[in-house]
Formats: sequence, C-alpha cells, structure tokens
Amino acid sequence: MFADRVLSGMRPTGNLHLGHYHGVLKNWVRMQHEYECLFFVADWHALTTHYDTPQIIEQSVWDMVIDWLAAGVDPAHATLFIQSRVPEHAELHLLLSMITPLGWLERMPTYKDQQEKLSGKDLATYGFLGYPLLQSADILIYRATQVPVGEDQVPHIEFTREIARRFNHIYGREPGFEEKAAAAVKKLGGKKARLYTELRTRFQEQGDEAALESAKALLDEQQNLSHGDRERLFGFLEGGGKMILSEPQAMLTAASKMPGLDGQKMSKSYNNTISLREDEAEVTKKIRTMPTDPARIRRTDAGDPDKCPVWPLHLVYSGADMQQWVQQGCRSAGIGCIECKQPVIDAVLAEQRPMRERAQVYLDDPTLVRNIIADGCEKARELARATMRDVREVMGLEYK
Ligand code: TRP
Ligand code: SF4
Repeated sequence: MFADRVLSGMRPTGNLHLGHYHGVLKNWVRMQHEYECLFFVADWHALTTHYDTPQIIEQSVWDMVIDWLAAGVDPAHATLFIQSRVPEHAELHLLLSMITPLGWLERMPTYKDQQEKLSGKDLATYGFLGYPLLQSADILIYRATQVPVGEDQVPHIEFTREIARRFNHIYGREPGFEEKAAAAVKKLGGKKARLYTELRTRFQEQGDEAALESAKALLDEQQNLSHGDRERLFGFLEGGGKMILSEPQAMLTAASKMPGLDGQKMSKSYNNTISLREDEAEVTKKIRTMPTDPARIRRTDAGDPDKCPVWPLHLVYSGADMQQWVQQGCRSAGIGCIECKQPVIDAVLAEQRPMRERAQVYLDDPTLVRNIIADGCEKARELARATMRDVREVMGLEYK
C-alpha cells in the first residue's frame, strides 16, 4: 500500500572498519539506487549502552557519516540524518510506550544477551529496556516498509510489527469510521467514487481479488487525498479500520563474513580490525605482521593455507589465479609469507583508495557534512511530522 521505503540506523560507538563496509555499507550503496532510502545515526541508541561515555558517541558521529560517504552512500540518493535531531522519534517512543506491554520488552532475547555480554555495565535501566521500542519508533515514524538488519536484529523488527498491529487495533477504529470513509469516497469525485464503490462491493460480496487490486491502484493514483482519507479508503476496502502505522519487513543482510587479522570475524571486540580509512602504512604493517600457519616456521617449511588467517583474506580479495598461486606456493614452500601477503595488502589499499579520496573532500571542508546532515534532518522531519499528526489525532491529543 505504501511505496517501498528503506530505513536503517547505525550506532555511533567507534570507528567503522572493513567488516562494516563489506557487511553493511556496500548493501546501503546498492539499495540507494533501488529504493527510497533513509539512513541515520542512532545516537540515542548508543546512549542506552554508552550513557557514561558520551565522548565516544560525540567523536564517532561525524566520523561515521564521513565513513558512509566515503563508502559511496550518496546524499543525492539517500537521506542521511541524526536521530536526536528529529525529536519526533522521542515523542513517538513515549506515545508507543503507553501501549507496550512490559513483558514484550523483558522477553526480548537481546535484552538478556546484551546485559550478559556487557556485564561490566549496569544495563538494568529504563532506557535500555526500551531499546527495541525506540527502534520501533525509528521505523514506524517513517512508515518504512523495509529494514535492512543483521540476524540479531530480526526480533526487533518482529516486535515492531507487533507494536504497529497493536496500535492500529487500539486506535485504528476511530469513532464514526464508516461516516468518515463515506465522506472520503465522495471526495474522490463522481466517476471515481462510483468506480471505487463498485470495486469494493465486488470484492466484499464476491471476494473478487482483482477488483480489490484495481481499487487499490485507483487510490494509489489519487494525488489530492489527505493521508487520513487515503488510509480510511484503504481500510474501508477490506472492511477494517484505519491503518495508521504500517508493518515493516526485515531485509536480512547476510552476516558479514569479513575475516579479521587473526582469522576470526572482523570485530572491534576481537581487536583484529582494519579501519575503513586506515592509514596506508598502518594497513601495510597490520597485514605484514599478521600471524600465518604456525607450523610454517622457516621459509623452507611447507604451509597449509587452511591453517592460516591470510588465506580467508585471499578468498575475499583475490581471483582464482591468485588463489591457485597461494595454494600451490604455500604447500610447496615455493612462496614466502611476505610475498603471499603482498597482493592482499595491494587489494585492501586499492579498495580503500577511492574511499580515502572521497573522505578527504569532507575532511577538508567539514561544513559539507554538516549541510548534508542538516538537509537530511529537514527531510526526515517532514516525514516524521506527518506521521505524528496522525498519531496525535488518533490518540486524542489534538485538542481543539
Ligand atoms: N539496533 C540497531 C543495531 O544495533 C541500530 C538501529 C537503531 C536500527 N534503530 C534502528 C536499525 C532502526 C534499523 C532500524 O544495529
Ligand atoms: Fe599463509 Fe600465505 Fe604464508 Fe601460506 S604462504 S602460511 S597462506 S601467508
């Protein structure tokens, strides 16, 4: 019923690395050409766990946006903004909290998991319990249809769908719905109103799905309907009430298989990362000093790529010929490890070069980034305000 709209957020809690690039950002860059996209800095979400180290968030916000831009996220194709600059998220979070059963939040798998994982920190807070609900507000306020997330976030999207359903159930049946829907039909104008009514009857009395689709298409074409009337007419077709908040779908991003410098998955907590825009000399040094097959002590010892953390990087960065050269050379002691690592170094540097170049423009002139975000916040706010008007209205907050 709504056009596809993609929304995703990222918490500003430190440097982005090549794992983020391969796992998330490349996806964003692709999607920005396929859908309307909104990407935002989830700074309030970062505060739920980093409430005692706000400096980290403050430092990471602009760097993270520069990383996005460096990776190829294009403000001409995607709306980029900062969560806390669209305070409507907080208002929707508060209003949704009125109808959110505590048990739903307490049962979230991420709630206990994260508390255990970050056991050094007291996460028995109101804010942390509400983390998934704040995320729901982020999503529902834009009526996003698609939310690209990793596996771990799927329960949050499912929760968001349940919140939307509960909200629509409680508030969608406005008093006088039938009358308002009838008035909205009239506003379509004589011919279209007759067509709508006829299609609706055909669907309701004969279960004619094609008629339902035609009626929806008819509504999609109407430019002059208010959002409220549009929703009433969609709801009226199928007999239900108004659908105020729409249920999003999770768009599963394949888990990042980006290997780190030690063979484990690249992750800040393993201290095995290469930053997105890491200095060339540093990248070279990090890869040169990577551990290799521990059994290969001398240059003349044959090695086994399957026991070496460099090999997974060749799988990411090298073509078949190069991979063959590594396999053959390693197992026969025909090549040395430094030799073997050089193509990986070259490939990483080549991957980073355009990113570093794009970033430089923004580092030279920080106002560019500030302006991109200011524009994005303005666009996001407009969408958010429209949803909030509907939400306030159905929750009885538009006192006249
Ligand atoms: N919780 C998400 C994460 O940790 C970040 C996030 C916050 C988010 N709000 C969102 C992601 C809304 C998608 C949609 O990755
Ligand atoms: Fe690893 Fe390459 Fe050395 Fe073999 S030659 S042990 S694959 S770095």
